[in-house]
Amino acid sequence: MDEAAQFDITLVTEDGQTLHCKCRADTCIAAAFEAAGFRMRLACRSGGCGACVAWLQEGHVQHQQTVSRARLDAFPRTLGQPVFLCRASPRSPVRVQVAGVPVRRILSPLSNALNASSSRTDG
Ligand code: FES
Repeated sequence: MDEAAQFDITLVTEDGQTLHCKCRADTCIAAAFEAAGFRMRLACRSGGCGACVAWLQEGHVQHQQTVSRARLDAFPRTLGQPVFLCRASPRSPVRVQVAGVPVRRILSPLSNALNASSSRTDG
């Protein structure tokens, strides 16, 4: 797998919104959405708690590091294969369904512009 490969990710929220992001093969899906300005439902960020669970509807992912198999197996498979977005990296274009609170965008276009201008250095 080319670690620099980049895939389209579609995230379907519980209220039916679809959110889109690109994610590299060496990056977890949660981090890619955070980098794109979305607030993700996360707690441990280490594959142990299940707060970031999503159900794989299309495509392939790989958990990059160890996840709690007991936690993963505790989730129903009615919506698809459960995956933990804090550890899951794409191996193809992916579509996942998330549970709970809809993902909210935390950065407006104005704050993005302010962040971009404040990160510039003079000279
Ligand atoms: S945030 Fe705990 S398993 Fe992903």
